[in-house]
Amino acid sequence: MSARRAPAPVRVSPARLMAEAEKARAQAYAPYSKFSVGAALLTRDGRIVSGCNVENASFGLSICAERNAVWKAVSEGERDFVAVAVTAGRSGGASPCGACRQVLHEFAPELVVYWRDGSGRLVKDTIGNLLRKPFVWPGRKAK
Ligand code: THU
Repeated sequence: MSARRAPAPVRVSPARLMAEAEKARAQAYAPYSKFSVGAALLTRDGRIVSGCNVENASFGLSICAERNAVWKAVSEGERDFVAVAVTAGRSGGASPCGACRQVLHEFAPELVVYWRDGSGRLVKDTIGNLLRKPFVWPGRKAK
């Protein structure tokens, strides 16, 4: 039996993915924190699904850009993510929060995460490094 291997991902540059995250950020609804965030997920076949943070007067109901992008993508039949870009603007560094790391890991344990550091430089790491010990459902097989 031949080992099942995912096909090589369609190549999209980190700069292009970040540009999509910036576009999504422009839609952020963040009247309370005034901290606008955009995220863009890249699927293995080259589709980009983006999201922004959406806050609520009941603060705990607010949703981060990354999770919003994941909910959108999964709702549209996309689960095979290879990369995500996250931006809080050119000078504001924002790597995904812990909750978003767990959610991203659920679908893409090999995910590459791009974000901007405090000085606006594009940096990257893997979700595995960002979330060393994720919660994984007992007995769940790796895909
Ligand atoms: N936020 C994100 O959208 N992503 C993150 O990874 C960190 C925080 C949002 C949530 C909230 O609307 C605002 O940034 C301030 O925490």
